[in-house]
Amino acid sequence: MKEALVSTIKSLNPTNLSDVVIETKLATADDIAAAARRAKAAQKSWAKMPAPARGRVIANAGRLFENNKEALSKLVTREMGKVYREALGDVQEVIDTCDFFLGEGRRMYGQTVPSEMPNKNLFTFRMPVGTALIITAGNFPAAVPSWYIIPALLTGNSVVWKPSEFTPAVAEAMTAIFHAAGVPKDVLITVVAEGKETFEGMVKGLDEGTINKVGFTGSTEVGRLIGAKVGEYIQSACLELGGKNPMVIMPDADLDLALDGALFAGFGTAGQRCTSLGTLWIHDSIYDKFLKMYADKVASSKVGDPMQDVLFGPMIGEKYAETHEHNLKMIQSHHTVHGSTGMGRITKENPREGFVGDPQAGVFVHPTIVAGIKKDDELYYTETFGPLVTVGRFKTLEEAIDLGNDHGFGLSAAIYTSDPKAVWTFREGISAGMISINNSTSGAEAHLPFGGNGNSGNGSRQSGIWVLDQFTRWQSLNWDWSGKLQKAQMDNEEVPHNPDFKI
Ligand code: UN1
Repeated sequence: MKEALVSTIKSLNPTNLSDVVIETKLATADDIAAAARRAKAAQKSWAKMPAPARGRVIANAGRLFENNKEALSKLVTREMGKVYREALGDVQEVIDTCDFFLGEGRRMYGQTVPSEMPNKNLFTFRMPVGTALIITAGNFPAAVPSWYIIPALLTGNSVVWKPSEFTPAVAEAMTAIFHAAGVPKDVLITVVAEGKETFEGMVKGLDEGTINKVGFTGSTEVGRLIGAKVGEYIQSACLELGGKNPMVIMPDADLDLALDGALFAGFGTAGQRCTSLGTLWIHDSIYDKFLKMYADKVASSKVGDPMQDVLFGPMIGEKYAETHEHNLKMIQSHHTVHGSTGMGRITKENPREGFVGDPQAGVFVHPTIVAGIKKDDELYYTETFGPLVTVGRFKTLEEAIDLGNDHGFGLSAAIYTSDPKAVWTFREGISAGMISINNSTSGAEAHLPFGGNGNSGNGSRQSGIWVLDQFTRWQSLNWDWSGKLQKAQMDNEEVPHNPDFKI
C-alpha cells in the first residue's frame, strides 16, 4: 500500500533562525475542499443562532484576546519579527475589532421601507453569504485575519482560514482562542497550505458550492488571479492588495512632525505593511533640507532585536529579504542612496552601525532611502514591501497629486501641510481609499473603512460597518396584507392635480 505523503513546514523565528517556532502539517487542495465541506455543513445552525448570541461569542473572544494579549504579542514578534510594541498593536486591533462587532450582534439592522401601496409593508434583512475562505498574509498575522473572521462569524457565516505559511503558530493560537470563546470547531477551520494548493482547493470549493466568499490580503498579482477565478463563479472577492503609498511634504509642513510620520510609515514593520510609505514627495523648496533630516534620522535609528527598543527588526522571512534584495537592483545611476552603512543583508562583513543583537542569526536588512525618483523609474511603479523608501521632488500640489496617483495603486496617501486648501485639494484629487492629514500612511484605526482602489483593490472595504456588505447579502421582503393583488407601478392611486397651474 502506498503511504500518504504528509509534508510539513517549519516556521522559524526570523530574529534567530535556529529557533523553530512550530512545525505544521501542510494541507493539500483536497484537505481544503474537505474543510470547506465541513464548514459549509456547520454554517446553517450557526446562522440560526440569534445574532446577539453570536455577539456574545465575539465578546468572549475579545476578553480572551485581552487576557492573552502579551503572550500572543510575544508569539507575533517571535514568529514574524515586528517589534514588540507593534505586535501589541497588532493584537490590540483584534480586541478593538471584537469590541466593535460584539455590539453589531444587537444591531445588524435591516430597514422598514414605505410601500407605494396601502396595506403593504416593505423590509430589508441581512443574510449571511455562507462559507468564506479567508487567505491572509504574514505581516499582520493577528489583526488582518480578525478583520475578516470576526465580522464573518458575527453575521452568521462559517470560515475556512488559510493564514500565511510564515505565521502558523499565531494562527493556531488565534484559532484556539476563538474556539475557547464558543465558536464551534467546524464554524472556524484553519488550514495551513502553500499558494498553489490553496488556489486549487479554492477552485474545488467554488465548484462544489462550499465556498461562497473569498477574502484575500496579499499581492496585487495573486489578488488578480483570485478575483478573476472567483468572478467565474459570479462571486466578488474581498481584495486587500498592495500599495505604493505617497506622502507629500508641503513647504508649510511642520517638518519635525513630518519626520516622525515618514520614519514610522517607511520603516515600521520593516516597511512590510501594505500601508507602508512608498514614495516621499518633498516640495522643491525644502527638498534638500528634509531629505537630509530624513536620511540622518534613519541612519541614526537602531535596527535589530525586535524585543528591544529598535525602529525595526528582521524581515518576516527569507523570501521577503530576497524580494528586498531584488528591488535594490532597480536603483539607477541618477539615484542617490541614504540611510545606512550598507545595503542589502546586514552581516559581519556588511554591518549596520549600532545594530542591536546578532545580525547573522536572523534575516536583517539595511534600511534604504533611494532619492531622485522619477516617474519612469521601475521603483516608481513597484511596491517594495520592505525597508526601502523612494524620495522624489515636486513643484506644485497638482503635480504631487498626479505623482501620487499615476502608478495605479490607490491604498493610502498622506499629506503634511498647514493649509486647509491644500488638504481639500489633496483629498479630492488623490485616488487612494485612505487619506492621512499630518499623519503616517500606516496605522489606520480598526473601525474606519480599510481598502483601496485600482491595483490596491476592487473597491471592497473591510472594518467598521462597511465590511458588513462583504459578508451579508441584502434580502428584501414585501408583505401585502390588503387581501387583494396590488400591482406595483400599475395599481397606484393617482392624486388629482392641476399640471397647468401658475400663480
Ligand atoms: C496591512 O498591512 O495589511 O493601517 C494592514 C495599518 C494597520 C494595518 C495594516 N492598522 O497600518
